[in-house]
Amino acid sequence: MKSASDTYTLTNGVKIPCIGFGTWQTPDGEVCVAAVKAALAAGYRHIDTAQGYGNEASVGQAVRESGIPREDLFITSKLTNSEHGYDKTLAAFEGSLQKLGLDYLDLFLIHWPNPIAFRDHWEDANAGTWRAFEELYRAGRIRAIGVSNFRPHHLDTLLKTAEIAPMVNQIRLCPGDTQDTVVQDCRSRHIQLEAYSPLGVGKALQAPEIQALAQKYGKSPAQICLRWSLQNGFLPLPKSVTPARIRENLQVFDFELAAGDMQTISALKGIASYAADPDTITW
Ligand code: A2P
Repeated sequence: MKSASDTYTLTNGVKIPCIGFGTWQTPDGEVCVAAVKAALAAGYRHIDTAQGYGNEASVGQAVRESGIPREDLFITSKLTNSEHGYDKTLAAFEGSLQKLGLDYLDLFLIHWPNPIAFRDHWEDANAGTWRAFEELYRAGRIRAIGVSNFRPHHLDTLLKTAEIAPMVNQIRLCPGDTQDTVVQDCRSRHIQLEAYSPLGVGKALQAPEIQALAQKYGKSPAQICLRWSLQNGFLPLPKSVTPARIRENLQVFDFELAAGDMQTISALKGIASYAADPDTITW
């Protein structure tokens, strides 16, 4: 990846900007509107939100106020945990479009495979949800469809009834939490990996090894983490509400980590805690 406008190509041919702007934990209202506007002004063209973040309306407002043509943007949202199943998914999708003020989504994801409300029948619930996703995709209302927080057994189960394979799996991926099994599995299935919390919610930036590499390359710890993500072929979604950091997190295309340094970073374990187990989450 050589610039922020570079793209990955999904299995259906849709091009997706190789870095996106994360909005998890960005509060709805002025803070979110300002953050997304700062991101768009800085050059991000890919914004990641979710029904569960409660900030779709603010993301939509920022997009409109930016004046950037819709077709130049890539907007992702995710189905919230209470709305699994065919009928609920269709209604929830319309809710997202309404809040965002858009008439299509670029990417829609099942946020979690096994929410607590569906624990005893998550397989059927996902099958129904996916049928709705496929219908919306075929109708041109979503340009690409995918999942989030799915492990191999969740994908295996989904694929028993799916007619269209997921194009994306968005998981927690950062130095210290590399989810090797999921990564290998998705690579073998040609599913694009997106990395949420690519900075380990900021925790990875404190690791002495990351700070030493930042010194070595003359970059910030955040830029080291994001470059590591890109060089692994992941699609990082850094979150920030701070304009200087928002800009800093895009300046990751003017250097390259040497293979040995990539390995050093990949070998760091536990510097930023670990992803929640999707089969035991309490939400
Ligand atoms: P803030 O939003 O207050 O700027 P992640 O993307 O891994 O979830 O990390 C998000 C966290 O990292 C937020 O607390 C964010 O703070 C912080 N953060 C984002 N970018 C940077 C940066 N370039 N330097 C330091 N901290 C950052």
